[in-house]
Amino acid sequence: MSTSAQIGVTGLAVMGRNLARNFARNGYTVAVHNRTATRTRELVAEFGHEGDFVAAETAKEFVAALERPRRLVIMVKAGDPTDAVIQEFAPLLEPGDMIIDGGNAHFADTRRRERELREQGIHFVGTGISGGEEGALHGPSIMPGGSKESYEPLGPMLEKISAKAQDGAPCVTHVGPDGAGHFVKMVHNGIEYADMQLIGEAYQLLRDVAGYSPARIADIFRTWNTGRLDSYLIEITAEVLSHVDAATGKPFVDVVVDQAEQKGTGRWTVQIALDLGVPVSGIAEAVFARSLSGHAALREASRGLAGPKPAALDEAEAAVFADRVEQALYASKIVSYTQGFHEIAAGSAEYGWDIDLGAVSAIWRGGCIIRAAFLDRIRAAYDARPDLPSLLSDETFAREIAAAQDDWREVLVAATRQGVAAPGFAAALAYYDALRAERLPAALTQGQRDFFGAHTYRRVDRDGSFHTLWGGDRSEASA
Ligand code: 6PG
Repeated sequence: MSTSAQIGVTGLAVMGRNLARNFARNGYTVAVHNRTATRTRELVAEFGHEGDFVAAETAKEFVAALERPRRLVIMVKAGDPTDAVIQEFAPLLEPGDMIIDGGNAHFADTRRRERELREQGIHFVGTGISGGEEGALHGPSIMPGGSKESYEPLGPMLEKISAKAQDGAPCVTHVGPDGAGHFVKMVHNGIEYADMQLIGEAYQLLRDVAGYSPARIADIFRTWNTGRLDSYLIEITAEVLSHVDAATGKPFVDVVVDQAEQKGTGRWTVQIALDLGVPVSGIAEAVFARSLSGHAALREASRGLAGPKPAALDEAEAAVFADRVEQALYASKIVSYTQGFHEIAAGSAEYGWDIDLGAVSAIWRGGCIIRAAFLDRIRAAYDARPDLPSLLSDETFAREIAAAQDDWREVLVAATRQGVAAPGFAAALAYYDALRAERLPAALTQGQRDFFGAHTYRRVDRDGSFHTLWGGDRSEASA
């Protein structure tokens, strides 16, 4: 068996297969392996002309085919299947070898695996890979964690197969140690959920309040895609909305069951944000909106509840409204990314990863699902001020969100008056208004907590903690 393969991929479902092809197309000799060997044989038979593949029928053959230090990419389902594959291969590896996990693993699992394998001298590189099947084949955005030493031999290979931003830069960087890569991929997916929810709300408002057809809304999204909202998600939204269902001749979007599913990475983003104390309200509303859509019986039982039915505007008003929706969408998008980057910064501080937010936004400029011109602006903001407290502190974004104020609020007035749910737009504006408020009702919350739980409070005019004797003479005591 040849020992010439510079990289190996085990797990040849579509993502794994396409990643192996991508490596081969870029000149690497790729060892390929799959639990059911037929898939391995099929890959080589169908795509063997694309480059050098070494088909391995067993784990032993697969490891034997890899040059030292061995680089072994696992592309299997997150969770137990990943642990099973690690347990199968780790005993066959030697110190200095590395296992790269390209699945959507939970970063806590990656931290555990990295720690366990490090004791055997094996590098474990939890790696976010974004861009779906097309991305895996033609160039994804790649978010490797793991040790710096592992990135030395691996980085150039990933840079070769990754997507390239418009300036030619590879959309890959060493995100940080242990689980940093999978953490950043998780937040990428959370932002993806928020982006998709905001686009969905913009669509529903244009449908119900402007009274536009899916085809007309598709044209509006195409126009928006030539401006500051230029992005993969806006681009594909226009394609989805302009698609006509062949079986019925109806707009495709009208024949799809309106219950959104989710594999879980957006949910993780919110769960971890709760633990870190980071308000990712836009991402949370996107996750909850998907969950709500799935409660069919509850929605059926609620259908007759009192509330306005949207009444479409006239042509002139609808055109004005559509422009307002673009402003609201853009402003809400800035808030969602602000929240997502806040979570990355908080995770980096919590786990000591020292993540470079500018570098993360740079590798999201191409290949990934949230790829957008917008990310170039975020990179510029962080490159100008690496210690930027929030994207909203960047003067360009602050100026743009200031210009969007009136329209953003008008859109929410219309949504409220017309009874069109816009939780993403509303959460973004509420976050923005809370951030800039002089005083928050949290003062009252502290008073209530002290009243019923003697949980104490701090005062604005002197240091220390205090408690009021609510059940007695209401005098105040230092706690
Ligand atoms: C990507 C995508 C991908 C995601 C699937 C399903 O970055 O390529 O985000 O990782 O898992 O698209 O996502 P949901 O089922 O969670 O919507």
